[in-house]
Amino acid sequence: MRTLITGGTIVNADATTRADILVDGERIAIIGTDLDVEADRTIDASGKWVIPGAIDVHTHMELPFGGTFAKDTFETGTRAAAFGGTTTIIDFAVQPRGGSLRQGLDAWHEKADGRACIDYGFHMIISDVRDDVLSEMDGLVDEGITSFKLFTAYPGVFFSDDGAIFRAMQQTARNGGLIMMHAENGLAIDVVAGQNVAAGNTDPYYHGTSRSPVLEGEATNRVIRLAQVAGAPVYIVHLSAREALDEVRRARDAGLPAFAETCPQYLFLSLDDMGNGFEGSKFVCSPPLRPAEHQEELWTGLLKDDLQVVSTDHCPFDFHEQKELGRDDFRKIPNGLPGVENRVDLLHHGGVREGRLTPNRWVEVISTAPARMFGLPHKGAVAVGLDADLVVYDPNRQHTISASTHHMDVDYSCYEGWDVVGGADVVLSRGTVIVDGEAWHGTPGAGQFLKRQRSPYLR
Ligand code: URP
Ligand code: ZN
Ligand code: ZN
Repeated sequence: MRTLITGGTIVNADATTRADILVDGERIAIIGTDLDVEADRTIDASGKWVIPGAIDVHTHMELPFGGTFAKDTFETGTRAAAFGGTTTIIDFAVQPRGGSLRQGLDAWHEKADGRACIDYGFHMIISDVRDDVLSEMDGLVDEGITSFKLFTAYPGVFFSDDGAIFRAMQQTARNGGLIMMHAENGLAIDVVAGQNVAAGNTDPYYHGTSRSPVLEGEATNRVIRLAQVAGAPVYIVHLSAREALDEVRRARDAGLPAFAETCPQYLFLSLDDMGNGFEGSKFVCSPPLRPAEHQEELWTGLLKDDLQVVSTDHCPFDFHEQKELGRDDFRKIPNGLPGVENRVDLLHHGGVREGRLTPNRWVEVISTAPARMFGLPHKGAVAVGLDADLVVYDPNRQHTISASTHHMDVDYSCYEGWDVVGGADVVLSRGTVIVDGEAWHGTPGAGQFLKRQRSPYLR
């Protein structure tokens, strides 16, 4: 199958070019002006942009959390991702406490293989650092699971102490993996949260006030310093606060291999959204939404490359059945927000149109940098020989975000009623059109597991 995309403007991280694209099979075969070639199908991209399919390196399909599971499956979640212009996800497999990494990995293959509609890889959450687990990490890196998430938050669930984190970092210094850190001081947070509940402050809003941004800054500094001594790179996930960004910037200015992502919820939403009684539970995630003054600093961090990636941390729980679990105690609200479908458009609308990001930087933070950071050299750019994961993007299309029209399997949207400009018109996954306007042409199981390389950014 040969597909010709004509008349579009190719927006890559490093250049913007008016050119046609010939896709042959699964790869980009030719890029050139006014291509005169035979094709089975022609897509007219006049007036549109052609960008590399976006890559969301932080999703949680079916994550067990707080006695329930994140609602989207690999089928529903990847379909929704595709409608939003995302053609690759990297999801977090979870080591069961007391179990092996292998058990966690097998369970995630079971969930994803034969179901995902777009390509996918896995990171591995390590919830229980032991000698045998450290040895297992080496084998996983060889299998393409080249990144591992550890937590200074969630005591009793995913929490690891400093010694455990340090040992895992030493292991990646040897095997070429990357440690990803959820950096909040969970032990101190749990004290404040307990005091809030004892004082009768049980509303979702107090989830936000229990988790001080200073405790995110403290944990961010701590894990960067542990990584420095271990001689390993470190990647801070879902960075939300100025205090944490300051630490990443300080480390990078000193030449340390410290990296970080933020998420749309921290760029667009704020602690105020968590007021309004139990409605605020829709916005409960960790780290929590911050006071609005943090947002501009995060945008500046993206502009200056102190933040390299925007991911979603997509982790959807229904408002009615699932967030409800914490109606009387915010500590029991499952943590997480939906967003895998909205990232590309939100970043275009609030970033590119508002003049905070150039179109090229937008492509870089949603696609190119994620591909390079997480070892996917066949993705993240519109270039000859790379996978034909392509999005014909209309920078002028207006639409209104709503749970009544989105494709994620969750009963609310954090951005309900927001009018955004920009949208994916046509989406190709390895050369196959899977989204054409509102029409779905994808297939569960067509997405392939991606065996990732060690990241070239790291050393
Ligand atoms: O609230 C969040 N972020 N839920 C997902 C789990 C995590 O910590 O990433
Ligand atoms: Zn986390
Ligand atoms: Zn997460």
